[in-house]
Amino acid sequence: MNILVFGKDGQLGKAFKAVFDANKLDKLHRIIYVGRAECDLSNAASITTLLDELKPNLIINAAAYTAVDKAETEVDLAYAINAKAPEVMAMYAKNHGATFLHFSTDYVFDGSRTVPYVESDIRNPLSMYGKSKAAGEEAIEKVFGSDQEGFSESNETNSPSLKGQFAILRTSWVYGEGGNFIRTILRLAKERETLRVIADQYGVPTSANWLAEVGLALALNELHQLKPFPSGIYHAVPLGETTWHALACNAIQAAIDAGALLKLRPEAIESIPATEYPLPAPRPMNSRMARGNLEVALTDSLGGSSDMTKLQILEESWVPQVAAYVQDLALRKLI
Ligand SMILES: NC(=O)c1ccc[n+]([C@@H]2O[C@H](COP(=O)([O-])OP(=O)(O)OC[C@H]3O[C@@H](n4cnc5c(N)ncnc54)[C@H](OP(=O)(O)O)[C@@H]3O)[C@@H](O)[C@H]2O)c1
Repeated sequence: MNILVFGKDGQLGKAFKAVFDANKLDKLHRIIYVGRAECDLSNAASITTLLDELKPNLIINAAAYTAVDKAETEVDLAYAINAKAPEVMAMYAKNHGATFLHFSTDYVFDGSRTVPYVESDIRNPLSMYGKSKAAGEEAIEKVFGSDQEGFSESNETNSPSLKGQFAILRTSWVYGEGGNFIRTILRLAKERETLRVIADQYGVPTSANWLAEVGLALALNELHQLKPFPSGIYHAVPLGETTWHALACNAIQAAIDAGALLKLRPEAIESIPATEYPLPAPRPMNSRMARGNLEVALTDSLGGSSDMTKLQILEESWVPQVAAYVQDLALRKLI
């Protein structure tokens, strides 16, 4: 089959390549990685042209307009990339019976709930970035419409729905090969002896590699062929929760344990409320998301097979993942 990955130069796009390479999927399938140079996602016509030419059976949209604060002023561009582009991809998937994996964000919520958000909670984004991502989710749902399989019916067949299927994987606080909060903190830790970090916003750090593995566990069977799953929204974060402050302390300690020479010690990181660090785009105070749909889908998809790796993915917590990430950065002399 043909697999098309948008966003090849981003954290998640690179993670998909790493996971595909590790599983030697390129020996089995034709995998095409596309970046901005090959297809500008703000140009809907060029997306359609590319899809018609490459005829993908699986479309992975790892690209997005992710400049959260800049989106407050670049509204049209954010909507073109985060709402229109996924709509075009969804239309292709629906009309050609393809599988579409799209990624979204905790920023579609306002963060006012005191418990983890569930997939069916009402979207109420605070920022233009969140609004553009929410518009993308709505556009995909509208394209697939009421005849999607959804979570109410189980698809018993062994091949993906001829109508096409989609998963919107909502995630939070992503880190991988690229710029992210952990890399910023580690850089600052080499320059400064003190730091002030927000301690009243809650979420889950998510490894881009883990997220790519989750996407593939949902879409592919143990023979790495497409399989049916209920179309809809899936919250995809590892186990646990934390604050930016605790994450910063955690990452600094992991770097020290890995032998990195830093000026900053975890004890010297001061906790501050978000009100003391105002940014152009407001962030949700609570980004925690419950993973009900993902747990049901991955458990059901086992169907008595021995592929337990899919369940193990769900049991992974963010803490050892962050430690392993920081250790790897230290090994590669990137701290
Ligand atoms: N990062 C997070 O903390 C976070 C949190 C929650 C959800 N998410 C979601 O997770 C997904 C992956 O995020 P990520 O962290 O991997 O993002 P990322 O590292 O910023 O990568 C986004 C990619 O999209 C590409 N892109 C942007 N505009 C484009 C355009 N006009 N045409 C073609 N490509 C374009 C960028 O290309 P260039 O490299 O050329 O700029 C970049 O490679 C996104 O859907 C994001 O909304 C991310």
